[in-house]
Amino acid sequence: MIHVAVLGYGTVGSGVLEVFRMNQEKIDRCAGDQVRIKYILDLRDFPGDPAQELIVHDFEQIINDESIDIVVEVMGGLEPAYTFVKRSLEAGKNVVTSNKALVAAHGSELLQTAKEHHVNYLFEASVGGGIPIIRPLVSSLTADEIEEITGILNGTTNYMMTKMFYEGADYDEVLREAQANGYAERNPEADVEGRDACRKIAILSSIVSGRQVDFEDIYTEGITKITAQDMRYAKEMNMVIKLLATMKQEDGTIGAIVAPFLLHSEHPLASVHGVFNAIFVRGNALGDSMFYGSGAGKMPTASAVTADIVEAARYQDRTICEYWSGNKMELKSRMDVKR
Ligand code: NDP
Ligand code: HSE
Repeated sequence: MIHVAVLGYGTVGSGVLEVFRMNQEKIDRCAGDQVRIKYILDLRDFPGDPAQELIVHDFEQIINDESIDIVVEVMGGLEPAYTFVKRSLEAGKNVVTSNKALVAAHGSELLQTAKEHHVNYLFEASVGGGIPIIRPLVSSLTADEIEEITGILNGTTNYMMTKMFYEGADYDEVLREAQANGYAERNPEADVEGRDACRKIAILSSIVSGRQVDFEDIYTEGITKITAQDMRYAKEMNMVIKLLATMKQEDGTIGAIVAPFLLHSEHPLASVHGVFNAIFVRGNALGDSMFYGSGAGKMPTASAVTADIVEAARYQDRTICEYWSGNKMELKSRMDVKR
């Protein structure tokens, strides 16, 4: 039997429990073993919730339990998430996470730690919510040099902009809706200022270049300066405004930018509405492909996290940590990235 500990019983953590309840049989079949959640670490208690019997408040109970094979970090933030993840990997436990802030900041180092300890550090849910994008990039698309990735990578802002553009909704009201739906970050400034999308394109850039792309190096502009008048002008020109994150790779160099863009209404990304994300990938052999789906929210994100749990359960003795190394990649200046 494979034992799992989930750190954080919030939107994503509770979704993982629900996916297990819904699909336990399929999960066991695909993992090739019984996979069971043994602990949930959270600060609070959840009286009346069936998961309460699994709740613990002390990480030491998890790290000292040798039967725990997989630690699922869905607490968010840098600390104590970093310490818990690092210690778990060093203790020979696989780690699965949706925490893009941690992956963007320490992904290279944590992958190296995972490699040294022959375990997995998997983070499919860190980009694009439920959309498979990390695994395609490290498996099906490895024959290609990836020349471009351009995506709508933040569900909160796409939800807000869709409602504002088509329904004339009020900014603060739609932001509250996105929070109530479980799409927004704990501090939604990360969404609206573009920092969340920036971390995601930094993760994808690191994977395709095999080098550490620092998110601080990427020029980032969010949606806070978009006015109702901008939206009206866009409509008059038969265009839409979308927050895009884009990276281009050429001759071993990378340029990346996150900013609102005007797109013609017939552009494939113009019809990506609401919480949906879409990620356009251009490979030098494959040509163009597009990944589309729910970019945030409890169940889609939990689906991606649970798929990583199954992956870790299947390949406990195999590390797939060659995503990117510690060498830093210098980015092109912002002006070199064609809009
Ligand atoms: P939530 O805030 O809903 O859940 C986090 C949970 O972790 C809360 O229950 C929180 O408790 C608990 N927690 C925080 N710190 C600790 C700690 N030190 N010890 C124990 N428990 C702790 O966040 P989400 O579920 O929305 O997000 C989790 C992660 O997944 C984040 O990194 C986020 O960026 C990422 N993500 C989220 C998506 C989404 O759609 N929501 C999609 C993709 C990724 P308390 O509330 O008491 O502080
Ligand atoms: N806050 C993020 C978003 C969650 O809205 O896209 C998914 O990563």
